[in-house]
Amino acid sequence: YCLDRKLKERELILGKEEEKAKYFRELAGFSSQVAHEIKNPLNSISMAIQLAKQKGLSEDLLKIIECEANRLNSIVQRFSSVSKGIETHLEEVDLTKVVSDVITDAKGLATAYGVKIEFNANGFSQKVKTDPLLLKQALFNIIKNAIEAFEGVFREEKGVKVNLKKEKRKVIISIEDNGSGMTDEEVKRAFDLFYSTKSQGMGLGLSVVRRIMDALGGEVRLVSKKGEGTKVELILTHG
Ligand SMILES: Nc1ncnc2c1ncn2[C@@H]1O[C@H](COP(=O)(O)OP(=O)(O)O)[C@@H](O)[C@H]1O
Ligand SMILES: [Mg+2]
Repeated sequence: YCLDRKLKERELILGKEEEKAKYFRELAGFSSQVAHEIKNPLNSISMAIQLAKQKGLSEDLLKIIECEANRLNSIVQRFSSVSKGIETHLEEVDLTKVVSDVITDAKGLATAYGVKIEFNANGFSQKVKTDPLLLKQALFNIIKNAIEAFEGVFREEKGVKVNLKKEKRKVIISIEDNGSGMTDEEVKRAFDLFYSTKSQGMGLGLSVVRRIMDALGGEVRLVSKKGEGTKVELILTHG
């Protein structure tokens, strides 16, 4: 039985390593393509500057520099839209329902950690134009982190509070836990790709949240205090 379990664990770890490796390969391919494409215009600019140093700056050299800089600009623009890479399907969405669905999905995990999730919609009834699947994924990643924040933490009451509120043209979903909390250093690095303080963590959750919120034209904010807890806000604009 033990050997079997060890093998299973090994499989799990291997699975993650493979995923990471794939991600790195894609990233490496992407970077080398970017590097390749910006090399030529960059060379032309360098050459024009060298010539300008030797013979003085002429109208022609300025033209070259301007033209190549424009080329660089369009390359960067093209690649940054690729790297965002998230396609959105917008529709009018009932946020209260989106949040309830995600909380239902997280119930099993919450129970396993002895955590109570409370949801207060504050009578929220605003429909919002957004992508429900992406928003659900972002919210799930945040709630999962909030629950996992109780790993090895003793609390009389382990709770995750989810609230909805409206502020002018913004709607805010806040997720607050009284789990481990984070040091300033952890807060700084939390959204970095592959940053994780968990033994089995991938460090993908929050970087995906950030990408999703960017794609939705929204925002994510995190405040935390070590030993006290963490509050994350997903902010969307409407109207
Ligand atoms: N609610 C939270 N409470 C405490 N720490 C958190 C919380 N959310 C995120 N973190 C920290 O941010 C890190 C990165 O989170 P994430 O990107 O979701 O990756 P993972 O969950 O795989 O570690 C976590 O490893 C943890 O250190
Ligand atoms: Mg996570």
